[in-house]
Amino acid sequence: MTQTTNASLHQRRHNAVPRGVSNLLPIYAERARNAELWDAEGRRYIDFAGGIAVLNTGHLHPRVVAAVQAQLQQFSHACFQITPYANYIEICERLNRLAPGKTPKKTILLSTGAEAVENAVKIARAHTGRPGIVAFSGGFHGRTMMGLALTGKVAPYKAGFGPMPGEVYHLPFPVAYHGVSEAAALEALHTLFKADLEPQRVAAIVIEPVQGEGGFYVAPPSFLKALRQLCDEHGMLLIADEVQTGFARTGRLFAMEHSGVEPDLMTTAKSLAGGFPLAAVTGKAAIMDAPAPGGLGGTYAGSPVACAAALAVLDVIEEEGLCRRADAIGALMRERLQRLQNDKALAGAIGEVRGLGAMLAMELVEDRDARRPAAALTKALVADCAAHGLVILACGVRGNVIRFLVPLTASDALINEGLDLLEASLRRLTAAAAEQPRRHAD
Ligand SMILES: Cc1ncc(COP(=O)(O)O)c(C=O)c1O
Repeated sequence: MTQTTNASLHQRRHNAVPRGVSNLLPIYAERARNAELWDAEGRRYIDFAGGIAVLNTGHLHPRVVAAVQAQLQQFSHACFQITPYANYIEICERLNRLAPGKTPKKTILLSTGAEAVENAVKIARAHTGRPGIVAFSGGFHGRTMMGLALTGKVAPYKAGFGPMPGEVYHLPFPVAYHGVSEAAALEALHTLFKADLEPQRVAAIVIEPVQGEGGFYVAPPSFLKALRQLCDEHGMLLIADEVQTGFARTGRLFAMEHSGVEPDLMTTAKSLAGGFPLAAVTGKAAIMDAPAPGGLGGTYAGSPVACAAALAVLDVIEEEGLCRRADAIGALMRERLQRLQNDKALAGAIGEVRGLGAMLAMELVEDRDARRPAAALTKALVADCAAHGLVILACGVRGNVIRFLVPLTASDALINEGLDLLEASLRRLTAAAAEQPRRHAD
């Protein structure tokens, strides 16, 4: 029998799977534990990607595995709309208690982040009786049609897939590093209300408290407060998309807690269930009850296996103090990244180090110039790190941001080992780039 290799799997993948679903790396996962992963050829990797923010509690946390195994002794599916079950209710009760703000809450469970966003929009429209939804450029809200319509980046997400659902409007996201002030973003909202639609047609404003795919840009707390005030003034809802920011990543259970702003609705998914597909919309009870019976749901929504995993995840976050741990990881990584940022040998490649807690990123540019994104270096860095045993993710509307989503259960030693690999790779690539013009000049 021929041995399974990454290359042979990649060939089969090209023949069997359409190109529309892309792969960051031609590396095929075979097994994984906590923050380490092994490929089909037995090679080990440190995982700074966490399956795109899904593994705040690491791969196969023993508590999650035990909870899932116990559930599998009972039943794997019943459909909550047919014969409901207790762990669905338990997760909803816990999310209602944990969600930001004091207003009584209700929760519906779904399977994916995009589905949570779709349902938040449905609930907002049902409650307000209004059609309009305001979102932000650079934002990402999923690949279903409404998720796409809300997403503020055309290529590769929206291109070729139109027409998009209507009544969606985009505003600039405040990013000081790229010259978009908070005042300018708010002014754009006022202009929208003057030029395009009256606020009385707007059901909701949807915002990621820290943009994820868009580049880990943190919404200033004062901006979130201003949006809250505008929503209250005009009867619009504020929807916080916490799909990527949620479950301790930013040093709080939810990123909105940093601002003290209570959203009307909040979408969550990803790290909620430690690798099992589960998503939620949690919101003010009176708003959540707007859709009529039968208007919400889904065959697999709130899978009992995923609910069991999620209950264990919430226990782990609490008992292992993962919010505090996110702050500690953030401080450790930020200190090392900032040292690299100030290292002259790296030729000003790191323009900015930013983030909240352990939701950290570095933006790669040329000569410290925010207007000159180093997308080629970013791509090369992802590939070179993988070749040396570290999985990192790129993001950003210009393709020049490296984001770090290491499991919050990783040890300092493993994180430092990963950062050593990152540093070596960055030094190799910037030295090679500096060599090139010299060789041309010879
Ligand atoms: C903020 C945000 N919302 C929604 C989604 C969509 O989630 P899913 O891929 O589970 O549909 C994502 C995924 O990256 C996300 O980051």
